[in-house]
Amino acid sequence: MSTGRIIDGKAVAASIRGELAERIAELKAQGRRVPGLTTILVGDDAASKVYVGRKQREAKEAGMVSEAEELPGDVTQEELIGVVREHCERPDIDGVLVQLPLPEGLDEAAVIDAIDPRKDVDGLHPINQGALFTGREGPRPCTPLSCMTLVESTGVDLTGLHAVVVGRSVLVGKPVAMLLLERHATVTICHSRTRDLAAMVGSADVLIAAVGRPEMIKGEWVKPGAIVIDVGINRVDGKLIGDVEFEAARRRAAHITPVPGGVGPMTVATLLRNTYDSCLASQASGAPSPSPS
Ligand code: GUN
Repeated sequence: MSTGRIIDGKAVAASIRGELAERIAELKAQGRRVPGLTTILVGDDAASKVYVGRKQREAKEAGMVSEAEELPGDVTQEELIGVVREHCERPDIDGVLVQLPLPEGLDEAAVIDAIDPRKDVDGLHPINQGALFTGREGPRPCTPLSCMTLVESTGVDLTGLHAVVVGRSVLVGKPVAMLLLERHATVTICHSRTRDLAAMVGSADVLIAAVGRPEMIKGEWVKPGAIVIDVGINRVDGKLIGDVEFEAARRRAAHITPVPGGVGPMTVATLLRNTYDSCLASQASGAPSPSPS
């Protein structure tokens, strides 16, 4: 039996990082400012620490300025917002990312609102989410954009195809639906109360699984020849498992992302690309450069 081609997120991400590193080296050679990224981690969630560590390391490797703020879990809302604002005001910083989820007691929406929309390389500020919904330019959220880059890597034109998104989160489900719509797909968003999810999945030419429940989507539901993008990263008995039953789905899909090695590695590369774009936009707008040290 034929099996679907695996979409290699690691390879696509490496090629994006390589290209960015070259472009940043060119900026440097021209005596121009290189992009700067600040990551803000609050509390001691182990998974968040790993993700933030990766963002810092890859930013440095690409030649960016990489700043890290680590704040205790009992930081006050005002202190956290103060740190966010301080980094947004720095002329050498183009992107400020607050790692989510925040510890209980902190108001995530208020913290995101405090980010300067021009430095919101996560694309989560309501102004940028609004830009996405109204088809205006702006940074797009990293995970949804990563899904789109992987879909595009298959070379399949989405025009008129049925794309089914399972999950309606602000981080992934809703924005990826908008991006698919921009590519002229017919889009359905499913969620925990959708009736007959199997039939919905079975009609998907493109399936984006972003529910956060291990192997909830059964391989036998997948439409033969579909593109399957699995956003799920579920830790089960020390192993990472996606939202899709991989082996069974692979027997039906034309293209499928693995977990790990699919969407995961792409999200950081996309964040770096958003930071680079923000840096170029800042330089084009004539924003002040930091004084030479
Ligand atoms: N935590 C999980 N995904 C994300 C993301 O895309 N951005 C931020 N800031 N935190 C996350």
